[in-house]
Amino acid sequence: MSSSSAGAFSTRTRLILIMGVTAALAAVSPIAGLSTARAADPTLHQLAAAKGKYFGSATDNPELTDTAYTAILGSEFGQITPGNSMKWDTTEPTRNTFAFTKGDAVVSLAKSHNQIVRAHTLVWHNQLPSWVSSLPTTEVQAAMENHITQVATHYAGQVYAWDVVNEPFNEDGTFRTSVFYNAMGSGYIATALRAARAADPTAKLYINDYNTDGTGAKADAMYNLASSLKAQGVPLDGIGFQGHLAIQYGFPTNMQANLQRFADLGLDVAITELDVRMILPRDATKDATQSTYYTNVVNACLAVNRCVGITIWDYTDKYSWVPSVFSGQGAALPWDENLAKKPAYTAIFKALGGIVSTSSPSPSGPSPSTPAPPTGCKVVYSASPWTEGTGVGGFTANITVTNTSATPVSGWTLRFSLPSGQTLTQSGWNATYAVSGQAVTATNLSYNATIPANGSTSFGFNGRWSGSYSSPAAFTLNNVTCS
Ligand code: XIL
Repeated sequence: MSSSSAGAFSTRTRLILIMGVTAALAAVSPIAGLSTARAADPTLHQLAAAKGKYFGSATDNPELTDTAYTAILGSEFGQITPGNSMKWDTTEPTRNTFAFTKGDAVVSLAKSHNQIVRAHTLVWHNQLPSWVSSLPTTEVQAAMENHITQVATHYAGQVYAWDVVNEPFNEDGTFRTSVFYNAMGSGYIATALRAARAADPTAKLYINDYNTDGTGAKADAMYNLASSLKAQGVPLDGIGFQGHLAIQYGFPTNMQANLQRFADLGLDVAITELDVRMILPRDATKDATQSTYYTNVVNACLAVNRCVGITIWDYTDKYSWVPSVFSGQGAALPWDENLAKKPAYTAIFKALGGIVSTSSPSPSGPSPSTPAPPTGCKVVYSASPWTEGTGVGGFTANITVTNTSATPVSGWTLRFSLPSGQTLTQSGWNATYAVSGQAVTATNLSYNATIPANGSTSFGFNGRWSGSYSSPAAFTLNNVTCS
C-alpha cells in the first residue's frame, strides 16, 4: 500500500468484488503427464531459509528491464547485492556530489520482493573515481570518511549489511597499497568501520575479499586482521568470502574449517560473490565438476552456524561478469544464458535439502515445475479499490483459493492476468509473487504449501490501478483453469 495520507483513504470509493469460480477437471482440455506431476519446487531461498540462511544473487541496473530475468530474481532469492551501483564511481563520481538513483532502484526492487540487501561497497581500490586516487595524501582520510558517512547514511536502515572495505589484501597476505593504505596505513580499515557504524548503526559491517575462501597466506592475513580489530573493539560484524572459484584451479583448501575459525572469533561469515567459472566451451564433465564446487560451498556454509548466507554473483550466465574479465572463461552460474537451470542449480537445490524427483529425470536439473493438478478449484478474489484522483488509485486484493478435489494439493501456483493499467506495489503476503508484464504468478510459501482436500488458503497483495478498476478475469491453479 502506498503511504497515502489519511485524507486519500477517506475519499476512496470502497467496492467489494467477489468472484467465485468452480471448475471440474473434465471441463478443461486434457493435461499431459499427470502421472509424473509433482509439487512445485521450493526456491533456493526457501530451502536456505528453512536452514536459517539466505540465498541471494547479485544484480545490476541494466538487467532490470529484462522481465524474464527479474521474474526469477524476484522469486528465487531472498537477498540481492547491487553489482555496481553502490560503488564509489557511481555514488560519488565527483567530490561531494552524490548519486543514489541506481542504488535506490536496487533497494526498491528488493523491498518489492521482501529481499534483504547486501550493500557493496564503500572503500575499494577499484571503480574508484580518479579524483580520489589523485588526492593529496593529507586529504584522503577526510574524503573517505565523508564518502562513507554520506552513502551509509543515505541507506541507513534499508540494508542488511555493508561491505565496508573490499579486497584489502595482496595474495601473499600483505596489505594492498591502495590510496587509502598509502595515506593511513592499515588503520584505514578501523577508521572506515567506525565511520560506517556511526552512519548506519544497524547494518552488519563486513570486510570482504577473494582467495580467502580456503586456508592460506591471504586467509591467515584476514584472520589476523579480524582478530586484532575484534580485540580493539572496532565495529566489525562479519567477513565476506567472495568465492570467485574456477574449476581449473581446484576447490579451496579446508573451506569449512576456514569459515569456522572466523566464526569462532564471534563474527558472521558469508559467501558474498559465488561463481564457478570454467574454460569454455562448457561440457557435461565440466558441468559435473562445477556442480561439486557449488555443493561443497553450500555444505561448508550449512556446517558453520554463523555462516549467514550465500550470494551468487548474478544467477545467469547471461549477465555474468566472468567472460569480460577472464578471457576464454565463463558458464560460471547456475542458470544458463537462456535462463534455463543447469546441473549447478540442481546441485545447490539438493545440497540445501531439496528433493529432486527421480520419476522424471532431466539432464538440466529438475524439470520445470509440473505441480499436481487439483481436480477442482474455486477462487474468491476480493478487492478493495479506492480512488485518489481521476482514473487512478490503489487497491488491496485478498485471494482465497479452495481445493475442491478429494485429495490435497501439495505445492501450488496460482496464475492470473492483472487487467491493463494495474501493477503490484509490493510483494504481498502468504505467497511469493512473480510478475512479468501483466502476468502474475503466486506461489506457496513453505508453511502453506498444502491445501487439504476441500480446504482453502488465503493470500494477497497491494496494487495500483489506472483507467477504471476491474478484477482479473480468470485463474489457474497448478495450470488447471478455475473458471
Ligand atoms: C564486478 C562487477 O560484477 C562488474 O560488472 C564490474 O565491471 C567489475 O566488478 N569482486 C568484487 C565485485 O568485489 O565488486 C566485482 O564486481 C567482482 C570481483
